[in-house]
Amino acid sequence: MSAQRPKRSSPSRRRFLHQAGLGGAALALGSACSSAAGSKAPEAAQTPQSADSGTSGSNKPVVLSTWYHGLPANDAAWALLSTGGTALDAAEAGVRIPEADPQSNSVGYGGLPDRDGHVTLDACIMDHEGHCGGVAFLEGYKHPISVARKVMEETPHVLLTGQGAAQFAAEMGFQQEDLLTPEARADWQEWLRDGHHAPPVNAQNHDTIGLLALDGEGRLAGACTTSGLAYKMHGRVGDSPLIGAGLYVDGAVGGATATGMGEMVIKVCGSFLVVELMRQGASPQEACEAAVRRIAERQDLEDRQVGFLALDRQGRTGAFAIRGGFNYALTHEGQHGMQDAASLVP
Ligand code: GLY
Repeated sequence: MSAQRPKRSSPSRRRFLHQAGLGGAALALGSACSSAAGSKAPEAAQTPQSADSGTSGSNKPVVLSTWYHGLPANDAAWALLSTGGTALDAAEAGVRIPEADPQSNSVGYGGLPDRDGHVTLDACIMDHEGHCGGVAFLEGYKHPISVARKVMEETPHVLLTGQGAAQFAAEMGFQQEDLLTPEARADWQEWLRDGHHAPPVNAQNHDTIGLLALDGEGRLAGACTTSGLAYKMHGRVGDSPLIGAGLYVDGAVGGATATGMGEMVIKVCGSFLVVELMRQGASPQEACEAAVRRIAERQDLEDRQVGFLALDRQGRTGAFAIRGGFNYALTHEGQHGMQDAASLVP
């Protein structure tokens, strides 16, 4: 359950090219950092990592993900990571849990619709070698993250949208479903009765699940999936399906994912920014804080929320948000639970 929106209660690429006619064409919040108000971020947690963070098989797996719905997602990811599974498989398996949960009203099945009553989903996935795929504005498929993985593995493209994404999902054998639950429909109809015809853009209206995983071979991967801003304009796409905005992974450095007001994240290429800052020497915690500060430099914060998570190849983690209330699930050997992120504004 999210703190922001509480529950109501390249193998076959050749084949695709042919079909498409394209053939010729840690754990450590290691460096506690100060907030804008000068307050300290939460104390560093212990790190489970050895100094060797390469692909030697000596790494200890770590998984972290946004919000309360990250706990069951981490469970699913950990089931794979702790038995030798890959970070990529763990990332996908993890976020599929909230995607399928009708009580999670910001992701997948049960997600709140756009202002016209359509549940439209955004997702992307990325591995340590830079392979990536995404879908945006996808209707009728419960697991956009798995469609995104198919985009990555079965096509020459990175992002498919709308009808084209749905057509591809059907071609890949995914089952089409009505994703608007009776509860989500009732919420939407209630919202219509109030006479608003603009989405409420505030800290309560964003709950992506972004998940970062490090496996025992030192491979990083991430997944990000959402139904986006509730009651958004039809056709609106947020940061979550955009590589570099909602998610970015560089196996030599680390990964980052974002939650919150997608437009604010897109404007600073947020997850790419966090990873690049880590590449330049920032700790995951420092990088998340710097990215939030970059947003704050030029954008009106009003009551809006953005949060970043980061995981480097040593297994160190970071988390920081514009305002208080952002929490995340963290799992590694000996720990599985929720953490509160530090923030710029209390
Ligand atoms: N971060 C999710 C969205 O803005 O759609």
